[in-house]
Amino acid sequence: MSQFDPPLRDDLAGLTPYGAPQLDVEVRLNVNENPFPPSAELARDIAASVERAVASLNRYPDRDFLRLREDLSEYLAGESGVRLAPEQIWAANGSNEVMDHVMAAFGGPGRCALTFPPTYSMYPQYSRESFTSLVEVPRDEDFRINLPAALAAIDEHRPTLVLVASPNNPSGTAVPIGELIELARAAADAGAVLVVDEAYAEFRHSGTPSALTLLADHPNVIVTRTMSKAFAMAGARVGYAAAAPSLIDALAIVRLPYHLSAITQAVASTALAHARELQQGLDVLRIERDRLVVALRERALQVPDSDANFALFGVFDDRHAIWRALLDRGVLIRETGPEGWLRVTVGTPEENARFVAALDEVLQP
Ligand SMILES: Cc1ncc(COP(=O)(O)O)c(C=O)c1O
Repeated sequence: MSQFDPPLRDDLAGLTPYGAPQLDVEVRLNVNENPFPPSAELARDIAASVERAVASLNRYPDRDFLRLREDLSEYLAGESGVRLAPEQIWAANGSNEVMDHVMAAFGGPGRCALTFPPTYSMYPQYSRESFTSLVEVPRDEDFRINLPAALAAIDEHRPTLVLVASPNNPSGTAVPIGELIELARAAADAGAVLVVDEAYAEFRHSGTPSALTLLADHPNVIVTRTMSKAFAMAGARVGYAAAAPSLIDALAIVRLPYHLSAITQAVASTALAHARELQQGLDVLRIERDRLVVALRERALQVPDSDANFALFGVFDDRHAIWRALLDRGVLIRETGPEGWLRVTVGTPEENARFVAALDEVLQP
């Protein structure tokens, strides 16, 4: 067969696909998944709802996923105390796709987005794919946003998007609500949308308000969430956003037709009906997270406060050697974040114990 040189875009030449290694090891604590699989009852209900959806798979799905919007709105009211109309909710295949829509609608050539690294490693890719330039305002050493620098950068660069993960990945740190309000105001003055990526919101310590509380007074704010983490549905690929109806209407313009399959809609709505059961697993994970942070600090490691289901820890002269030695002991974590740091996802109590025991072996002098 003759060779074909694909006409790849010049800006993609030499790049490799994004993704953490998917290795088959016993203890997988590398991509911030929820370690608890669906209950037998939830699995049964999902199977039944999929069977019902299959009966009309010859038809396109509800393009506007009205039932799912209602179910998400109901869930958010219970979770955050903020009641939103279904017209204020958007959903897509993972919050990754929600962000794709956000970038397509509000970014684009000649426009810029502002982010605060170290942060979620997909933000540069979102920008690249939407031809939006990216301005990075580094966080302070303690992973807090440098607010004066952030406000000055918004004023100087006039972005159309300001992207803030809270709790932040990979640091786990939550951005105080007062700082989010200042960012929302500065963004509004610049004509920008503030996106608060709350992928890990359900793990926040109690008493920490969600950015959803900003929506009533700040019509330029979008809060994104996902069912991949707290909801233990990473395999279903469901993410969503909450915002003023005018912002949601803009997202609808750029989505591909029928982007959310009938199966996805059925699975998501059924899982949402079981939201209460999740609470038990969440409580366990939050306690385990706090324990893990203490255990790491007891080993003289630095760990920022975490409001997420993972902890960043360091600092190592050779983090790759630590990562590799843990993998050799059947524990997969993530080599990510600033040089010298590693990130571990909170697993089941047994998995966390395995991780700590392996780490003790690796750190032995
Ligand atoms: C901060 C942050 N936002 C969004 C996502 C994407 O989640 P989803 O599975 O909904 O695409 C992740 C996943 O790791 C994340 O860490």
